[in-house]
Amino acid sequence: YNVPKAVNEPVKTYAPNSPEKKSLLDTYKKMYNEKADIPFYIGGKEIRTGNTVSIHPPHDHQHTVGHYHKAEKSHVEQAIANALEAREAWSKTPWEHRAAIFLKAAELLAGPYRDRMNAATMICQSKNVMQAEIDAACEMIDFFKFNVEFMTEIYANQPISSPGIWNRMEYRPLEGFTYAITPFNFTSIAANLCAAPVMMGNVCVWKPSDHQIYSAQVIVELFKEAGLPDGVINVVYGDPVMISDTILSHREFSGIHFTGSTHVFKMLWKQIGENIGNYKTYPRIVGETGGKDFIWSHPSANAKQVATAITRGAFEYQGQKCSAASRAYIPESLWADVKKYVVADLKSIKVGSPDDTSNFVNAVIHEASFDKISRFIDQAKQDKDAEIVAGGNHDKSKGYFIEPTVILAKDAKYTTMCTELFGPVITIYVYDDKDWKDSLKLVDETSEYALTGAIFSADRYVIDYATNALENAAGNFYINDKPTGAVVGQQPFGGARASGTNDKAGSIWNLLRWVSNRTIKETF
Ligand code: ALA
Repeated sequence: YNVPKAVNEPVKTYAPNSPEKKSLLDTYKKMYNEKADIPFYIGGKEIRTGNTVSIHPPHDHQHTVGHYHKAEKSHVEQAIANALEAREAWSKTPWEHRAAIFLKAAELLAGPYRDRMNAATMICQSKNVMQAEIDAACEMIDFFKFNVEFMTEIYANQPISSPGIWNRMEYRPLEGFTYAITPFNFTSIAANLCAAPVMMGNVCVWKPSDHQIYSAQVIVELFKEAGLPDGVINVVYGDPVMISDTILSHREFSGIHFTGSTHVFKMLWKQIGENIGNYKTYPRIVGETGGKDFIWSHPSANAKQVATAITRGAFEYQGQKCSAASRAYIPESLWADVKKYVVADLKSIKVGSPDDTSNFVNAVIHEASFDKISRFIDQAKQDKDAEIVAGGNHDKSKGYFIEPTVILAKDAKYTTMCTELFGPVITIYVYDDKDWKDSLKLVDETSEYALTGAIFSADRYVIDYATNALENAAGNFYINDKPTGAVVGQQPFGGARASGTNDKAGSIWNLLRWVSNRTIKETF
Protein backbone atom coordinates (compact mmCIF):
# COMPACT_ATOMS: atom_id res chain seq x y z
CA TYR A 1 0.00 0.00 0.00
CA ASN A 2 1.43 3.36 -0.95
CA VAL A 3 0.53 5.37 2.16
CA PRO A 4 2.90 8.29 2.71
CA LYS A 5 6.15 6.94 4.18
CA ALA A 6 6.26 7.79 7.88
CA VAL A 7 9.26 9.79 9.04
CA ASN A 8 9.76 11.08 12.57
CA GLU A 9 8.55 14.63 13.06
CA PRO A 10 11.54 17.01 13.34
CA VAL A 11 11.80 18.57 16.80
CA LYS A 12 11.51 22.36 16.76
CA THR A 13 14.22 24.06 18.78
CA TYR A 14 12.33 27.18 19.97
CA ALA A 15 15.57 29.13 19.84
CA PRO A 16 15.76 32.41 21.80
CA ASN A 17 14.05 35.26 19.93
CA SER A 18 12.70 32.90 17.24
CA PRO A 19 9.18 33.53 15.90
CA GLU A 20 8.22 29.95 16.84
CA LYS A 21 9.16 30.56 20.47
CA LYS A 22 7.26 33.84 20.57
CA SER A 23 4.19 32.24 19.03
CA LEU A 24 4.22 29.37 21.54
CA LEU A 25 4.68 31.64 24.56
CA ASP A 26 1.93 33.98 23.31
CA THR A 27 -0.39 30.98 23.06
CA TYR A 28 0.69 29.90 26.55
CA LYS A 29 -0.16 33.32 27.97
CA LYS A 30 -3.52 33.40 26.26
CA MET A 31 -4.49 29.88 27.40
CA TYR A 32 -3.20 30.60 30.89
CA ASN A 33 -5.74 33.39 31.26
CA GLU A 34 -8.54 31.89 29.20
CA LYS A 35 -10.76 30.58 32.04
CA ALA A 36 -11.62 27.59 29.89
CA ASP A 37 -15.01 25.94 30.35
CA ILE A 38 -14.32 22.33 29.34
CA PRO A 39 -17.23 20.01 28.57
CA PHE A 40 -17.03 16.29 28.06
CA TYR A 41 -18.08 14.78 24.73
CA ILE A 42 -20.65 12.13 23.96
CA GLY A 43 -21.63 11.40 20.39
CA GLY A 44 -19.82 14.57 19.35
CA LYS A 45 -21.99 16.72 21.64
CA GLU A 46 -20.52 18.95 24.31
CA ILE A 47 -22.01 18.14 27.71
CA ARG A 48 -21.91 20.57 30.64
CA THR A 49 -23.40 19.27 33.87
CA GLY A 50 -22.53 22.28 36.01
CA ASN A 51 -20.79 19.90 38.40
CA THR A 52 -17.34 21.33 37.82
CA VAL A 53 -13.77 20.97 39.02
CA SER A 54 -11.19 23.78 38.74
CA ILE A 55 -7.95 23.27 36.86
CA HIS A 56 -4.73 24.66 38.37
CA PRO A 57 -1.23 24.59 36.89
CA PRO A 58 1.06 22.47 39.12
CA HIS A 59 3.63 25.30 39.10
CA ASP A 60 1.09 27.91 40.23
CA HIS A 61 -1.59 26.08 42.18
CA GLN A 62 -3.48 29.20 43.30
CA HIS A 63 -4.11 30.20 39.70
CA THR A 64 -7.17 28.83 37.91
CA VAL A 65 -7.01 28.27 34.15
CA GLY A 66 -10.57 27.04 33.94
CA HIS A 67 -12.70 24.09 34.93
CA TYR A 68 -14.08 20.86 33.53
CA HIS A 69 -17.50 19.29 33.92
CA LYS A 70 -17.96 15.92 35.60
CA ALA A 71 -20.06 13.13 34.15
CA GLU A 72 -22.67 11.11 36.07
CA LYS A 73 -23.25 7.39 35.64
CA SER A 74 -26.07 8.04 33.14
CA HIS A 75 -23.58 9.96 30.94
CA VAL A 76 -21.15 7.05 30.95
CA GLU A 77 -24.00 4.74 29.92
CA GLN A 78 -24.87 7.22 27.18
CA ALA A 79 -21.22 7.34 26.05
CA ILE A 80 -21.22 3.53 25.67
CA ALA A 81 -24.53 3.62 23.77
CA ASN A 82 -23.20 6.32 21.42
CA ALA A 83 -19.96 4.43 20.86
CA LEU A 84 -21.87 1.28 19.92
CA GLU A 85 -24.13 3.26 17.62
CA ALA A 86 -21.13 4.87 15.90
CA ARG A 87 -19.53 1.43 15.55
CA GLU A 88 -22.10 0.42 12.92
CA ALA A 89 -20.66 2.81 10.35
CA TRP A 90 -17.07 3.15 11.63
CA SER A 91 -16.30 -0.58 11.62
CA LYS A 92 -17.35 -0.68 7.98
CA THR A 93 -15.52 2.46 6.96
CA PRO A 94 -12.78 1.52 4.48
CA TRP A 95 -9.34 1.56 6.11
CA GLU A 96 -8.14 4.24 3.70
CA HIS A 97 -10.68 6.68 5.15
CA ARG A 98 -9.71 5.83 8.71
CA ALA A 99 -6.03 6.24 7.83
CA ALA A 100 -6.68 9.54 6.08
CA ILE A 101 -8.32 11.01 9.20
CA PHE A 102 -5.21 10.28 11.28
CA LEU A 103 -2.84 11.53 8.58
CA LYS A 104 -4.89 14.71 8.50
CA ALA A 105 -4.73 14.94 12.31
CA ALA A 106 -0.93 14.61 12.08
CA GLU A 107 -0.72 17.48 9.58
CA LEU A 108 -3.03 19.69 11.64
CA LEU A 109 -0.93 19.01 14.72
CA ALA A 110 2.32 19.70 12.87
CA GLY A 111 0.79 23.03 11.81
CA PRO A 112 -2.05 25.00 13.40
CA TYR A 113 -2.59 22.82 16.49
CA ARG A 114 1.04 22.57 17.57
CA ASP A 115 1.15 25.66 19.78
CA ARG A 116 -2.13 24.92 21.56
CA MET A 117 -1.24 21.27 22.20
CA ASN A 118 2.20 22.21 23.53
CA ALA A 119 0.92 25.15 25.59
CA ALA A 120 -1.86 23.10 27.21
CA THR A 121 0.72 20.44 28.09
CA MET A 122 3.09 23.06 29.54
CA ILE A 123 0.35 24.70 31.59
CA CYS A 124 -1.46 21.76 33.14
CA GLN A 125 1.18 19.03 33.10
CA SER A 126 4.06 21.44 33.87
CA LYS A 127 6.37 20.45 31.01
CA ASN A 128 9.12 22.71 29.74
CA VAL A 129 9.02 23.77 26.07
CA MET A 130 11.25 20.96 24.81
CA GLN A 131 9.54 18.26 26.87
CA ALA A 132 6.17 19.43 25.57
CA GLU A 133 7.45 19.55 21.99
CA ILE A 134 8.88 16.01 21.96
CA ASP A 135 5.68 14.66 23.50
CA ALA A 136 2.57 16.63 22.58
CA ALA A 137 3.78 17.52 19.08
CA CYS A 138 6.41 15.07 17.79
CA GLU A 139 5.48 11.82 19.55
CA MET A 140 1.78 12.30 18.87
CA ILE A 141 2.37 13.04 15.18
CA ASP A 142 4.65 10.00 15.00
CA PHE A 143 2.04 7.75 16.62
CA PHE A 144 -0.54 8.74 14.00
CA LYS A 145 1.75 8.46 10.98
CA PHE A 146 3.62 5.30 11.93
CA ASN A 147 0.48 3.51 13.04
CA VAL A 148 -1.08 4.18 9.63
CA GLU A 149 1.94 2.52 8.06
CA PHE A 150 1.83 -0.43 10.48
CA MET A 151 -1.86 -0.83 9.78
CA THR A 152 -1.16 -1.34 6.08
CA GLU A 153 1.52 -3.90 6.92
CA ILE A 154 -1.08 -5.80 8.91
CA TYR A 155 -3.66 -5.71 6.14
CA ALA A 156 -1.08 -6.83 3.57
CA ASN A 157 -0.33 -9.96 5.58
CA GLN A 158 -2.41 -12.73 4.01
CA PRO A 159 -2.35 -16.54 4.15
CA ILE A 160 -1.36 -18.59 1.10
CA SER A 161 -4.01 -19.79 -1.31
CA SER A 162 -3.99 -22.71 -3.74
CA PRO A 163 -5.54 -23.42 -7.16
CA GLY A 164 -9.33 -23.26 -6.80
CA ILE A 165 -9.08 -22.03 -3.19
CA TRP A 166 -8.74 -18.44 -2.01
CA ASN A 167 -7.77 -18.01 1.65
CA ARG A 168 -8.12 -14.58 3.14
CA MET A 169 -7.52 -12.91 6.49
CA GLU A 170 -10.00 -10.25 7.47
CA TYR A 171 -8.72 -7.88 10.15
CA ARG A 172 -12.00 -7.10 11.90
CA PRO A 173 -12.25 -4.66 14.81
CA LEU A 174 -13.20 -6.16 18.18
CA GLU A 175 -16.90 -6.76 18.73
CA GLY A 176 -18.07 -4.08 21.18
CA PHE A 177 -16.28 -0.95 22.41
CA THR A 178 -12.85 -0.25 23.86
CA TYR A 179 -12.00 1.71 26.98
CA ALA A 180 -8.96 4.04 27.19
CA ILE A 181 -7.66 5.09 30.59
CA THR A 182 -4.86 7.54 30.01
CA PRO A 183 -2.10 9.15 32.12
CA PHE A 184 -1.08 12.74 32.80
CA ASN A 185 2.57 12.35 31.90
CA PHE A 186 2.39 12.06 28.11
CA THR A 187 -0.22 13.89 26.04
CA SER A 188 0.81 11.73 23.09
CA ILE A 189 0.21 8.49 25.00
CA ALA A 190 -3.24 9.73 25.97
CA ALA A 191 -4.09 10.37 22.32
CA ASN A 192 -2.60 7.09 21.15
CA LEU A 193 -4.45 4.94 23.67
CA CYS A 194 -7.65 6.07 21.96
CA ALA A 195 -6.27 6.39 18.43
CA ALA A 196 -4.64 2.97 18.04
CA PRO A 197 -7.81 0.89 18.58
CA VAL A 198 -9.91 3.45 16.70
CA MET A 199 -7.62 3.37 13.70
CA MET A 200 -8.24 -0.37 13.46
CA GLY A 201 -11.99 0.24 13.26
CA ASN A 202 -12.92 0.17 16.96
CA VAL A 203 -14.89 2.73 18.93
CA CYS A 204 -13.83 4.04 22.29
CA VAL A 205 -14.85 5.55 25.61
CA TRP A 206 -11.99 7.64 26.99
CA LYS A 207 -11.27 8.58 30.60
CA PRO A 208 -8.23 10.88 30.72
CA SER A 209 -6.31 11.65 33.90
CA ASP A 210 -7.85 14.58 35.80
CA HIS A 211 -4.47 16.29 35.38
CA GLN A 212 -4.38 16.16 31.60
CA ILE A 213 -7.82 17.50 30.76
CA TYR A 214 -6.65 20.80 29.24
CA SER A 215 -4.64 19.01 26.55
CA ALA A 216 -7.34 16.30 26.25
CA GLN A 217 -9.68 19.08 25.16
CA VAL A 218 -7.24 20.08 22.40
CA ILE A 219 -7.00 16.43 21.29
CA VAL A 220 -10.80 16.27 21.01
CA GLU A 221 -10.82 19.42 18.85
CA LEU A 222 -7.99 18.03 16.71
CA PHE A 223 -9.80 14.74 16.02
CA LYS A 224 -13.00 16.57 15.20
CA GLU A 225 -11.33 18.90 12.73
CA ALA A 226 -9.50 15.96 11.16
CA GLY A 227 -12.89 14.43 10.36
CA LEU A 228 -13.35 11.73 13.00
CA PRO A 229 -17.08 10.95 13.02
CA ASP A 230 -19.10 11.79 16.14
CA GLY A 231 -19.33 9.00 18.69
CA VAL A 232 -16.21 7.11 17.60
CA ILE A 233 -14.34 8.53 20.62
CA ASN A 234 -16.45 9.59 23.60
CA VAL A 235 -14.74 11.41 26.45
CA VAL A 236 -15.92 11.36 30.05
CA TYR A 237 -14.43 13.11 33.07
CA GLY A 238 -15.20 12.35 36.68
CA ASP A 239 -15.13 9.67 39.35
CA PRO A 240 -12.78 6.96 38.02
CA VAL A 241 -14.35 4.18 40.10
CA MET A 242 -17.88 4.96 38.90
CA ILE A 243 -16.70 5.26 35.29
CA SER A 244 -14.76 2.00 35.34
CA ASP A 245 -17.54 0.12 37.18
CA THR A 246 -20.06 1.23 34.58
CA ILE A 247 -17.84 0.33 31.65
CA LEU A 248 -16.39 -2.93 32.90
CA SER A 249 -19.79 -4.34 33.77
CA HIS A 250 -21.09 -3.75 30.25
CA ARG A 251 -21.64 -6.82 28.11
CA GLU A 252 -20.04 -5.22 25.05
CA PHE A 253 -16.83 -4.09 26.73
CA SER A 254 -14.20 -5.55 24.42
CA GLY A 255 -10.83 -4.22 25.54
CA ILE A 256 -8.94 -1.85 27.76
CA HIS A 257 -5.99 0.29 26.68
CA PHE A 258 -4.37 1.57 29.83
CA THR A 259 -1.38 3.55 31.03
CA GLY A 260 -1.18 4.27 34.74
CA SER A 261 -0.27 2.66 38.02
CA THR A 262 0.37 -1.04 38.57
CA HIS A 263 -2.04 -1.04 41.48
CA VAL A 264 -4.97 0.35 39.47
CA PHE A 265 -4.25 -1.92 36.50
CA LYS A 266 -4.30 -5.01 38.72
CA MET A 267 -7.59 -3.91 40.25
CA LEU A 268 -9.12 -3.39 36.82
CA TRP A 269 -7.82 -6.77 35.63
CA LYS A 270 -9.41 -8.40 38.68
CA GLN A 271 -12.67 -6.62 37.99
CA ILE A 272 -12.61 -7.79 34.37
CA GLY A 273 -11.99 -11.32 35.65
CA GLU A 274 -14.97 -11.09 37.98
CA ASN A 275 -17.17 -9.97 35.09
CA ILE A 276 -15.84 -12.47 32.58
CA GLY A 277 -19.08 -14.46 32.42
CA ASN A 278 -21.01 -11.37 31.31
CA TYR A 279 -19.00 -10.40 28.27
CA LYS A 280 -19.83 -11.26 24.70
CA THR A 281 -16.14 -11.78 23.94
CA TYR A 282 -12.90 -12.10 25.93
CA PRO A 283 -11.72 -8.51 26.38
CA ARG A 284 -8.23 -7.49 25.32
CA ILE A 285 -6.19 -6.19 28.24
CA VAL A 286 -3.32 -3.96 27.21
CA GLY A 287 -1.52 -1.92 29.83
CA GLU A 288 1.64 -0.05 30.60
CA THR A 289 2.11 0.41 34.33
CA GLY A 290 4.88 1.26 36.81
CA GLY A 291 8.63 1.27 36.61
CA LYS A 292 11.80 1.45 38.64
CA ASP A 293 14.09 2.07 35.72
CA PHE A 294 17.83 1.61 36.09
CA ILE A 295 21.20 2.81 34.90
CA TRP A 296 24.04 0.35 35.38
CA SER A 297 27.65 1.20 34.67
CA HIS A 298 30.71 -1.02 34.27
CA PRO A 299 34.19 0.31 35.21
CA SER A 300 35.01 0.49 31.48
CA ALA A 301 32.29 3.12 30.88
CA ASN A 302 32.83 6.78 30.21
CA ALA A 303 32.00 8.67 33.44
CA LYS A 304 30.83 11.81 31.67
CA GLN A 305 28.45 9.80 29.48
CA VAL A 306 27.04 8.02 32.55
CA ALA A 307 26.59 11.34 34.38
CA THR A 308 24.72 12.89 31.45
CA ALA A 309 22.47 9.85 31.30
CA ILE A 310 21.71 10.29 35.00
CA THR A 311 20.95 14.00 34.71
CA ARG A 312 18.79 13.68 31.63
CA GLY A 313 17.36 10.23 32.32
CA ALA A 314 16.35 10.99 35.91
CA PHE A 315 15.38 14.65 35.84
CA GLU A 316 13.83 15.55 32.49
CA TYR A 317 10.14 16.15 33.14
CA GLN A 318 10.84 15.94 36.87
CA GLY A 319 11.40 12.18 36.64
CA GLN A 320 7.74 11.67 35.77
CA LYS A 321 8.34 9.77 32.54
CA CYS A 322 7.46 6.11 32.88
CA SER A 323 10.94 5.54 31.44
CA ALA A 324 12.79 7.80 33.92
CA ALA A 325 15.89 6.42 35.62
CA SER A 326 15.35 6.21 39.36
CA ARG A 327 18.16 3.90 40.52
CA ALA A 328 21.76 3.62 39.37
CA TYR A 329 24.60 1.20 40.03
CA ILE A 330 28.04 2.77 39.68
CA PRO A 331 31.44 1.09 40.18
CA GLU A 332 33.64 2.55 42.88
CA SER A 333 36.42 3.49 40.44
CA LEU A 334 34.01 5.70 38.46
CA TRP A 335 31.96 7.18 41.27
CA ALA A 336 34.10 10.26 42.09
CA ASP A 337 33.98 11.39 38.45
CA VAL A 338 30.30 10.55 37.92
CA LYS A 339 29.44 12.43 41.10
CA LYS A 340 31.54 15.45 40.08
CA TYR A 341 29.81 15.70 36.69
CA VAL A 342 26.28 15.14 38.05
CA VAL A 343 26.73 17.71 40.82
CA ALA A 344 28.08 20.22 38.27
CA ASP A 345 25.15 19.51 35.91
CA LEU A 346 22.64 19.99 38.69
CA LYS A 347 24.21 23.28 39.77
CA SER A 348 23.41 24.66 36.33
CA ILE A 349 19.79 23.44 36.37
CA LYS A 350 17.03 25.85 37.27
CA VAL A 351 13.71 24.86 38.80
CA GLY A 352 10.56 26.88 38.14
CA SER A 353 7.61 27.64 35.93
CA PRO A 354 7.70 26.49 32.25
CA ASP A 355 6.94 29.94 30.79
CA ASP A 356 10.46 30.91 31.84
CA THR A 357 12.14 28.65 29.32
CA SER A 358 15.44 28.67 31.18
CA ASN A 359 13.85 26.39 33.79
CA PHE A 360 14.83 22.79 33.00
CA VAL A 361 12.81 21.33 35.87
CA ASN A 362 9.21 22.37 36.54
CA ALA A 363 6.66 21.25 39.13
CA VAL A 364 5.55 17.71 39.96
CA ILE A 365 1.99 16.98 39.02
CA HIS A 366 0.02 17.47 42.25
CA GLU A 367 0.17 17.86 46.00
CA ALA A 368 -0.15 14.15 46.83
CA SER A 369 2.81 13.39 44.61
CA PHE A 370 4.80 16.31 46.06
CA ASP A 371 4.09 15.15 49.62
CA LYS A 372 5.04 11.54 48.90
CA ILE A 373 8.32 12.40 47.17
CA SER A 374 9.24 15.00 49.82
CA ARG A 375 8.63 12.45 52.58
CA PHE A 376 11.10 10.00 51.04
CA ILE A 377 13.70 12.76 50.59
CA ASP A 378 13.31 13.94 54.18
CA GLN A 379 13.56 10.39 55.45
CA ALA A 380 16.78 9.90 53.46
CA LYS A 381 18.21 13.02 55.15
CA GLN A 382 17.83 11.21 58.48
CA ASP A 383 18.65 7.62 57.55
CA LYS A 384 22.16 6.41 58.27
CA ASP A 385 21.95 4.18 55.16
CA ALA A 386 21.50 7.18 52.90
CA GLU A 387 23.18 10.45 52.05
CA ILE A 388 21.88 13.34 49.95
CA VAL A 389 24.53 14.03 47.31
CA ALA A 390 22.68 16.82 45.52
CA GLY A 391 19.38 18.66 45.83
CA GLY A 392 16.99 17.71 48.62
CA ASN A 393 15.00 20.94 48.85
CA HIS A 394 11.29 21.18 48.17
CA ASP A 395 8.76 23.95 48.42
CA LYS A 396 5.04 23.88 47.63
CA SER A 397 4.13 27.46 48.55
CA LYS A 398 3.52 28.51 44.93
CA GLY A 399 3.97 25.33 42.89
CA TYR A 400 4.91 21.74 43.63
CA PHE A 401 8.64 22.24 43.18
CA ILE A 402 11.21 19.63 44.13
CA GLU A 403 14.88 20.10 43.47
CA PRO A 404 16.51 17.32 41.43
CA THR A 405 17.79 15.06 44.18
CA VAL A 406 20.51 12.43 44.20
CA ILE A 407 20.54 9.99 47.10
CA LEU A 408 23.53 7.77 47.74
CA ALA A 409 22.39 4.48 49.30
CA LYS A 410 24.77 2.40 51.35
CA ASP A 411 22.38 -0.54 51.18
CA ALA A 412 21.54 -1.79 47.68
CA LYS A 413 17.99 -2.52 48.83
CA TYR A 414 17.49 0.88 50.50
CA THR A 415 13.85 1.95 50.28
CA THR A 416 14.31 4.50 47.45
CA MET A 417 16.27 1.89 45.43
CA CYS A 418 13.09 -0.23 45.39
CA THR A 419 10.07 2.09 45.63
CA GLU A 420 8.63 3.90 42.62
CA LEU A 421 8.54 7.63 43.52
CA PHE A 422 7.67 9.11 40.11
CA GLY A 423 9.59 12.30 40.77
CA PRO A 424 12.98 14.02 40.38
CA VAL A 425 14.90 11.64 42.62
CA ILE A 426 17.54 9.07 41.72
CA THR A 427 19.19 6.74 44.20
CA ILE A 428 22.72 5.52 43.52
CA TYR A 429 24.42 2.42 44.86
CA VAL A 430 28.18 2.23 44.51
CA TYR A 431 29.53 -1.29 44.10
CA ASP A 432 33.02 -2.76 44.33
CA ASP A 433 34.45 -2.98 40.76
CA LYS A 434 35.31 -6.65 41.07
CA ASP A 435 31.66 -7.49 41.89
CA TRP A 436 30.24 -6.19 38.63
CA LYS A 437 28.61 -9.52 37.80
CA ASP A 438 26.90 -9.69 41.19
CA SER A 439 25.75 -6.10 40.80
CA LEU A 440 23.82 -7.16 37.68
CA LYS A 441 21.97 -9.71 39.82
CA LEU A 442 21.05 -6.87 42.15
CA VAL A 443 19.68 -4.84 39.26
CA ASP A 444 17.51 -7.77 38.22
CA GLU A 445 16.28 -8.75 41.69
CA THR A 446 15.72 -5.38 43.34
CA SER A 447 12.59 -4.35 41.51
CA GLU A 448 9.34 -6.05 40.54
CA TYR A 449 9.22 -3.80 37.45
CA ALA A 450 10.79 -4.23 34.02
CA LEU A 451 10.13 -1.16 31.90
CA THR A 452 13.38 0.54 30.87
CA GLY A 453 17.02 0.19 31.76
CA ALA A 454 20.42 1.33 30.50
CA ILE A 455 23.87 -0.22 30.70
CA PHE A 456 27.17 1.56 30.08
CA SER A 457 30.41 -0.15 29.10
CA ALA A 458 33.15 0.09 26.49
CA ASP A 459 33.80 -3.64 26.67
CA ARG A 460 31.96 -5.89 24.19
CA TYR A 461 32.16 -8.94 26.44
CA VAL A 462 30.60 -6.98 29.30
CA ILE A 463 27.87 -5.59 27.05
CA ASP A 464 26.94 -9.11 25.93
CA TYR A 465 27.12 -10.47 29.47
CA ALA A 466 24.95 -7.70 30.92
CA THR A 467 22.46 -7.89 28.06
CA ASN A 468 21.95 -11.57 28.85
CA ALA A 469 21.96 -11.18 32.62
CA LEU A 470 19.24 -8.52 32.36
CA GLU A 471 17.19 -10.16 29.62
CA ASN A 472 13.93 -9.85 31.58
CA ALA A 473 14.74 -6.68 33.53
CA ALA A 474 13.61 -4.13 30.94
CA GLY A 475 11.32 -4.11 27.90
CA ASN A 476 13.29 -1.13 26.56
CA PHE A 477 17.00 -1.80 27.02
CA TYR A 478 19.59 0.85 26.19
CA ILE A 479 23.29 0.24 25.63
CA ASN A 480 25.40 3.34 26.26
CA ASP A 481 22.42 5.71 26.28
CA LYS A 482 19.89 7.05 28.78
CA PRO A 483 16.74 4.95 29.31
CA THR A 484 14.26 7.68 28.25
CA GLY A 485 13.20 9.18 24.95
CA ALA A 486 11.98 6.17 22.98
CA VAL A 487 11.00 7.34 19.51
CA VAL A 488 7.99 5.88 17.68
CA GLY A 489 9.07 3.60 14.85
CA GLN A 490 12.59 3.36 16.29
CA GLN A 491 12.25 1.99 19.83
CA PRO A 492 8.76 0.45 20.27
CA PHE A 493 7.89 1.04 23.91
CA GLY A 494 6.75 -1.20 26.76
CA GLY A 495 7.84 -3.60 29.46
CA ALA A 496 6.77 -6.78 31.22
CA ARG A 497 6.67 -8.00 34.85
CA ALA A 498 4.84 -5.38 36.96
CA SER A 499 5.41 -2.79 34.19
CA GLY A 500 2.75 -4.02 31.83
CA THR A 501 1.64 -6.39 29.14
CA ASN A 502 4.57 -5.35 26.92
CA ASP A 503 2.48 -4.77 23.80
CA LYS A 504 4.83 -2.02 22.59
CA ALA A 505 3.11 1.32 22.05
CA GLY A 506 3.41 2.63 18.52
CA SER A 507 4.04 -0.71 16.86
CA ILE A 508 2.45 -3.37 14.72
CA TRP A 509 2.27 -5.61 17.82
CA ASN A 510 0.09 -3.11 19.63
CA LEU A 511 -2.26 -2.65 16.67
CA LEU A 512 -2.68 -6.41 16.40
CA ARG A 513 -4.31 -6.41 19.85
CA TRP A 514 -7.17 -4.34 18.44
CA VAL A 515 -8.31 -6.73 15.75
CA SER A 516 -10.25 -9.95 15.89
CA ASN A 517 -9.32 -11.77 12.74
CA ARG A 518 -11.65 -13.73 10.56
CA THR A 519 -10.09 -16.41 8.38
CA ILE A 520 -12.06 -16.95 5.20
CA LYS A 521 -11.67 -19.92 2.87
CA GLU A 522 -13.51 -19.65 -0.42
CA THR A 523 -13.61 -22.63 -2.75
CA PHE A 524 -14.38 -22.18 -6.45
N1 ALA B 1 8.70 7.96 24.68
C1 ALA B 1 8.71 8.05 26.10
C2 ALA B 1 10.03 7.70 26.66
O1 ALA B 1 10.61 6.73 26.26
C3 ALA B 1 7.64 7.19 26.70
O2 ALA B 1 10.50 8.37 27.52
